[in-house]
Amino acid sequence: MHEPTEKAYKEIVRSLQEINDLSSVDAILEKVLREARVLTKADAGTIFLVEKENLRFSYVQNDTLFAGDKVNPEVYSNYTVPIDMKSIVGYSATTGETVNITDAYALPDTAPFGFNKDFDIKNSYRTQSILAIPLKSYQQKIVGVLQLINAKDPTGAVVSFSTEQRELLPVFTINATIAIERGVMTRALVLRMMKMAELRDPSETGAHVLRVGAYAAEIYHQWALNAGVDWKERRRNKDLIRIAAMLHDVGKVGISDLILKKPARLTDEEFLTMKWHTALGAGLFSNATSELDALSRDIALNHHEKWDGSGYPGDVDIVNMDDMTMGKGKKGEEIPLAARIVALADVFDALVSRRSYKEPMSYEQALGIIQDEAGSHFDPDVVIAFDEVFFVCKAIHSRYTAETQLNEIPIE
Ligand SMILES: [Fe+2]
Ligand SMILES: [Fe+2]
Repeated sequence: MHEPTEKAYKEIVRSLQEINDLSSVDAILEKVLREARVLTKADAGTIFLVEKENLRFSYVQNDTLFAGDKVNPEVYSNYTVPIDMKSIVGYSATTGETVNITDAYALPDTAPFGFNKDFDIKNSYRTQSILAIPLKSYQQKIVGVLQLINAKDPTGAVVSFSTEQRELLPVFTINATIAIERGVMTRALVLRMMKMAELRDPSETGAHVLRVGAYAAEIYHQWALNAGVDWKERRRNKDLIRIAAMLHDVGKVGISDLILKKPARLTDEEFLTMKWHTALGAGLFSNATSELDALSRDIALNHHEKWDGSGYPGDVDIVNMDDMTMGKGKKGEEIPLAARIVALADVFDALVSRRSYKEPMSYEQALGIIQDEAGSHFDPDVVIAFDEVFFVCKAIHSRYTAETQLNEIPIE
């Protein structure tokens, strides 16, 4: 083995170790794409994941168009490509072959696929070299396609992907695919758990849960940038908060249908029971063995607390569940940061979503209400971060809709 290759293999092992530390599928895709681009010196890249007969656009990076660590709403674009021979990624998923293209605008006449210039035109980008590689599991099942765009030489000029890069990449992707499958499974597991809560409370749909997870991750990211949190900690917390936020109302599995679905106004006692979903949820993680468990407990318990102390349940005994005595509402920074973030994310989603008893509010109206409640209901710094990622939250809301969410989670 000659030297540069040996160095590259060491790099691959290091990056795979880092990928294995991540839990949420979004964080895994982000990292897989970044590492694949470092290996191939590619300017841009996209990951598509298989969803029934289609490839769903699942992650994008582009150094020329959206560089750095800024939040990028393109990540939440909502589109799919059929798995057939007509597109480059479709061809790769159908045949299981790697497609290597020198110039997307000068495809050979023999190529069965065409190149769709829509993205280039919309963003004034010029796609030249492309490497599309199928993401195959050990069982040879194709779970998606990784598409790398515009390899660069040391001077920054766009060149073709080299033979060495094409040989190295599969070593990385076969292992990265395992991590992606694990992330997809974790998400499916969380959604299944929430499905049980949804049966109880129809407003807690899978789409709501996915959206609250995504808003919370992006608001945290911006909050952490503002607070100067270093990038390693930021990336790790963003990953964990996305999953833990999805579980905010998991305690509703323990509340009776008679209360959750009661068409009339709740009595005081029923309302007290309803509020108890916070403690019940926390109880599920009371023997927290991991960071994710601890964060899930913090969020489940505290997502109805308010910054000014007027929320619930306050300090409660989550071990002795029979005693439903509420404590005095927690105030300010007594409420864990993740819960302060989820409180806002959950309220925003409720405001802008249709419910059986109300029409959705406009995004701007909801933003106004939330800003008015900075310092009373919400942490003012969290409101500032939310305001800064507001445009991404809008993209998230239209990305996960009631219609799309059910077929997008490959369960097996
Ligand atoms: Fe709740
Ligand atoms: Fe909720």
